[in-house]
Amino acid sequence: MSRPVVVVTRRLPAAVEEAVAKDFDARLNREDRPLTTAELQDALRTADALLPTVTDKITAEVLGVEPLRAKMIANFGVGFNNIDVAAAKAAGIAVSNTPDVLTDATADLAMTLLLMVARRGGEGERHLRAGHWTGWRPTHMLGRMVSGKTLGLIGMGRIARAVAKRAHHGFGMRVLYTDPYPPPPEVAKELGAEQRATIEEVLAQSDFVSLHCPATPETRHLMNGVRLAKMKPSAYLINTARGDVVDEAALIEALTKGWLAGAGLDVFEREPQVSAGLLSMENVVLLPHLGSATEETRVAMGMRALENLRLHFAGSPLRDRVA
Ligand code: 8YV
Repeated sequence: MSRPVVVVTRRLPAAVEEAVAKDFDARLNREDRPLTTAELQDALRTADALLPTVTDKITAEVLGVEPLRAKMIANFGVGFNNIDVAAAKAAGIAVSNTPDVLTDATADLAMTLLLMVARRGGEGERHLRAGHWTGWRPTHMLGRMVSGKTLGLIGMGRIARAVAKRAHHGFGMRVLYTDPYPPPPEVAKELGAEQRATIEEVLAQSDFVSLHCPATPETRHLMNGVRLAKMKPSAYLINTARGDVVDEAALIEALTKGWLAGAGLDVFEREPQVSAGLLSMENVVLLPHLGSATEETRVAMGMRALENLRLHFAGSPLRDRVA
């Protein structure tokens, strides 16, 4: 019996590519070149399943191909805003994601950004590498304390909770959060996290604001100019969620006008493009979407996507079905 054809859109860690090729008739992308719209459509027309990443925009147009052969999209990533899930559902395609396995890596990166921006890590490194360091002095490159400060979490899902754990139990931070679907009280208590009814309350009371909501039409530009103006002028914004959640132009204006002290960003509105206004600022830390970028995590993500593919072809319920 012929094996199901699976198109893998980008290079994956070797262990994952080997595992996919073992179980399926895998079409791997050895060149690691992002697929075009036409190539994604061709994949849906000629393969049984797709294993895409955040760089593949699987729109209604892409999903509208005929004849459609693929019945499954196993997204590599927990966020799936790259896929029009309503259109996939309408086309009879199941969609899965890879939750849990990247929670700790992403929380670690949120803390990395938080610490770097508060302690001027990027700026200091640029300064030293450029040969500008003239030696230690008491007033050189003073940042802000992280320990003991207040962290505000917008969204309190898995990754936010992992950030709260690090911040509260590791750095003695007070943790505030807001989420339309809050965690059970005992979970929040264990994390020392206090609920606030509105985003505005969290913004007004926090020294660091970290975004942990999914990218949906409702959360697009959640952090707009009006909300950025509600932050303390001494506060920092951290984004490891999705670029769309922040109005990047408004953020540049807010940083320029001093409505907040700085930002640590791992995600951007038009990746891989980053607004020129941000690139020239010293008080922002900019990383190239590294949230889940550890060897261990990327292997675990691939294996989780593979598990969903196996379940689909075995006719079993998916572990991580999102549509
Ligand atoms: C991934 C992510 O790198 O899982 C997510 O939502 O943002 C990242 O961890 C990316 O999605 C890979 O497709």
